[in-house]
Amino acid sequence: MLVLGIETSCDETAAAIVKDGREILSNVIYSQVKTHTPYGGVVPEIASREHLLKIRPIVDQAFRDAGKTLDDIDGIAVTSGPGLIGSLLVGLTYAKALSFSKRKPLVAVNHIEGHIYSVALEHPEAEFPALALVVSGGHTNLFWVESESGDFRHLKYKLVGRTRDDAAGEAYDKVAKLLGLSYPGGPVIDRLARTGNREAFRFSTPKITDGSLDFSFSGIKTAVLNMVKQNERLKEDPLRPDLLASFQEGVVNMLWSTTSKAITLLQPRSIMLSGGVAANSRLREVFLERTAAARLKFYYPCPILTTDNAAMIAAAGTAKLMRGEISEIDVSPDPNMRLALPERNFQNKRWKT
Ligand code: KG4
Ligand code: ZN
Repeated sequence: MLVLGIETSCDETAAAIVKDGREILSNVIYSQVKTHTPYGGVVPEIASREHLLKIRPIVDQAFRDAGKTLDDIDGIAVTSGPGLIGSLLVGLTYAKALSFSKRKPLVAVNHIEGHIYSVALEHPEAEFPALALVVSGGHTNLFWVESESGDFRHLKYKLVGRTRDDAAGEAYDKVAKLLGLSYPGGPVIDRLARTGNREAFRFSTPKITDGSLDFSFSGIKTAVLNMVKQNERLKEDPLRPDLLASFQEGVVNMLWSTTSKAITLLQPRSIMLSGGVAANSRLREVFLERTAAARLKFYYPCPILTTDNAAMIAAAGTAKLMRGEISEIDVSPDPNMRLALPERNFQNKRWKT
């Protein structure tokens, strides 16, 4: 089965051709990062205008790279949410037009589910049930993932934890902006933190007292803001790498501490880490070490599949197509689309099968 994937939910225009949900024949990504850098973040209006200019050449390029034509494919998978409404509209409308004119099935895909499927492309053997932590600029979600088929063909999700405020990537981006670093902040902080002392500053872990497995990142961001207000020298070397390394350690510890609580409670067979922040070197290192100590399988995608891409959308769409889950041509974009509603009674494991 050959599927075209299209992704335009934020500031990447991406298209990919994937065979059988596993083999990437092409994976083209146009990043608008340079366009948005002067503004210190994504400007939605500019993002949609750029998608409009790029969508056609990027999709054409994906076909050229794969040595395939529209006639060869079995379906079109496209992100329909969550994301920026104007950006989503461009990809979805283009996909609908292709689907209608060529009579190819259309499959609307949730972007978050796409991130989970980025693991499927390299690790089809991954074991379920799994805990999937999706950490990106817009989301920080911890899912309990069960498979009806034992593999990626038919997954079911329960949301066991999510951020109460900022997403992890958002905290990276905001702290970077505060320190005058370029957008997006994650990769820059990751690089600069390597030379810093992770224990130079201590950030307390937010207390979530209702027994939920939720995250919170606005506290650590505000703590950095207050520290910098009190001591401007933190913005410069030699103190800046120490501040960044300590901030990063705080974020990574928060992500691990909640994940480890969920591991104890739910006892998954594997851990899957995905989303833009999963590219973070310290996060990978900590999760690698600690999942190994807990004798759990740990999966994460390679860098090109970690940040937004269309191969993961094609992979998720292929699973849907195989199950016959085809979308109507009038499907609407949903900026706030959810993959699963928050689960509150996981403590007594009533829902765990
Ligand atoms: O998944 P993604 O490409 O887009 C969204 O769906 O949001 O994630 C982008 C986010 C940005 O906040 C960016 O700063 C963060 O991922 N990011 C990183 C790293 N690379 C990207 N955060 C920490 N360390 C990195 N190496
Ligand atoms: Zn994403």
